[in-house]
Amino acid sequence: MCGIFGYIGHQSSLPILVEGLRRLEYRGYDSTGVGLHDGETINVHKTVGKVNNLKQVLPKEANATMGIAHTRWATHGGVTQENTHPHASYDGKVLLVHNGIIENYRPLRAKLISKGIELQSETDSEVLAHMIGLELENGASPQDSVRNMLKRVRGTWGICVMFLDHDLLLCARNGSPLIIGQGDGEMFVSSDPHPLTSHTQRVVYLEDGDMATVTRTSIKVASKQGRSIQTNVQTLEDSWAESELGDAPHYMFKEIYEQPDALRHCITGRVDREMGTGRLGGMRLAHSTLVQAPHVRLLGCGTAAFAAEIGQMLIEKMARIPAVTHIASEYRNNDPIINTKAIYLAVSQSGETADTISAIKEIKLKGGQVFGVVNVVGSTIARLCGQGVYIHSGPEQSVASTKAFTNMVGALTVFSMQLGRSRNMSKEQGRELIQQLQQAPHLMEAYFEDVGPIDEAVDLLANAKSVLYLGRGLSAPVAKEGALKLMELAYIPCLAYPAGEMKHGPMALLEEGSPVVVVAPSDHLKEKTLLAIHECKARGAKIILIHEKGDAIAEEGDVSIAIPKIHPWLTPLLTVLPLQLMAYRTAVRLGKDVDRPRNLAKSVTVE
Ligand code: G6P
Repeated sequence: MCGIFGYIGHQSSLPILVEGLRRLEYRGYDSTGVGLHDGETINVHKTVGKVNNLKQVLPKEANATMGIAHTRWATHGGVTQENTHPHASYDGKVLLVHNGIIENYRPLRAKLISKGIELQSETDSEVLAHMIGLELENGASPQDSVRNMLKRVRGTWGICVMFLDHDLLLCARNGSPLIIGQGDGEMFVSSDPHPLTSHTQRVVYLEDGDMATVTRTSIKVASKQGRSIQTNVQTLEDSWAESELGDAPHYMFKEIYEQPDALRHCITGRVDREMGTGRLGGMRLAHSTLVQAPHVRLLGCGTAAFAAEIGQMLIEKMARIPAVTHIASEYRNNDPIINTKAIYLAVSQSGETADTISAIKEIKLKGGQVFGVVNVVGSTIARLCGQGVYIHSGPEQSVASTKAFTNMVGALTVFSMQLGRSRNMSKEQGRELIQQLQQAPHLMEAYFEDVGPIDEAVDLLANAKSVLYLGRGLSAPVAKEGALKLMELAYIPCLAYPAGEMKHGPMALLEEGSPVVVVAPSDHLKEKTLLAIHECKARGAKIILIHEKGDAIAEEGDVSIAIPKIHPWLTPLLTVLPLQLMAYRTAVRLGKDVDRPRNLAKSVTVE
């Protein structure tokens, strides 16, 4: 979703800002703009569309060593040039970029209008620039003008403000992340760590309520009340640097094929073969918690929620305690009952999903312990939980999540083993699972050597009115993930159902030739899934079947795609691969924007 990038230093800011925007593109956006300060004047350039469109309206050169830039994902007001950030104050002395939502912007807007200020856009963000402008006009310092403005707004914000008459940037955070990169005689401001890595590894994460004054040589952080806070400079992880596309046609393609290595990173050093258990140091799980936890609750959105559903089943299988997955956006609104002895897991690739963050806050408020299962190191969820497991996928830039999904499943498998071994699971069972889990990256590679008739599946999918995905047990969430992938990339309506539920509704959709994707690995549910296949075929459906190599069930598919054989509890790590490839290749065939599907964002930082 919206992205902020800012620069103050000794270099020309324009190319740095444009490159920053380019690296924020993956978050999802629909318009973009920059504001440049050359020491005397501020110039603003904006456009609807991609950063490449912006390049066409930018000057070739600009003598500005300070600037702010933004990618906007529309919330208040349509996708227009007027609504694109940065927004200026009525007198042109303040320029601002904002991520988040200002809830009380209507009365604030009305008040500005009553003072004779003409608003240029329909956004909630523009009011902030005018409010700061009025404070400045009344003689307040830049810091006090921002502080006084923030006292009167409700909602969420990450803001970066530039002033015509002051050589500094002011940043503030409440709910929308901001990170300041520290260089030598230059500073960078960004919504996420990714664009900073080519400039510096030294960063300061702002916390909610923080305000920072950023000059060429200093970062001063203060609280809302103006009390100064010690600046805590941290070092970014190296892995965030390996995020360029290289020779791959799309990020999604690259990330699908990175899964074997990503999974290796996720599990290496986290299993104890001798004891047959998982070892997740960052969870800091007390033995008493492991042994006494009455249940586990998992939370997430989108792909993360489907990975959580798989984790839920693995926990129940290995530890024999109840586990339930909740969609984070629903959870916090239902006044959840929190058991302070239970284990809560917040699953998130970005670590910035607003709904998941709100759910965590609700649990913590009621005394619950939340552990993060997160990819982005130092992200809001990771810091809010303060304990948990990094899934170590490396940067994932395609909006459609792939390698984060398999690594979430990998990390949750290790967690389930740890929980299981401290309760019911035997050492032998643990050892066997570890041996198979360590094989999984090789088996992924083996599958990628021969991915099967994906293009034949695409022939059936590309022109379908809708597609039904079926699976049972651990394959039910895999079916959901496959349906989500095809829907978000190819814009084909997709339904995913546990196979047994098919006859209670979705079967009405089936016509001659309707494609049905069935995930049927060789587990104890396969025979039951076969019944659903027969019921679909009897109504003229074409079956795209994901099955294990050598299994006679292959004959049942119109298109049958084989994955290597693996322990029945680990099948999601492999069955999801052909589903990812099918969605990818269908979208490519249909000429869709694979990495940036319309209307979607990678990092959903608003509720
Ligand atoms: C968005 C993304 C999905 C992702 C979901 C949750 O909808 O497009 O790919 O699964 O957010 O994101 P998270 O970063 O919390 O895993």
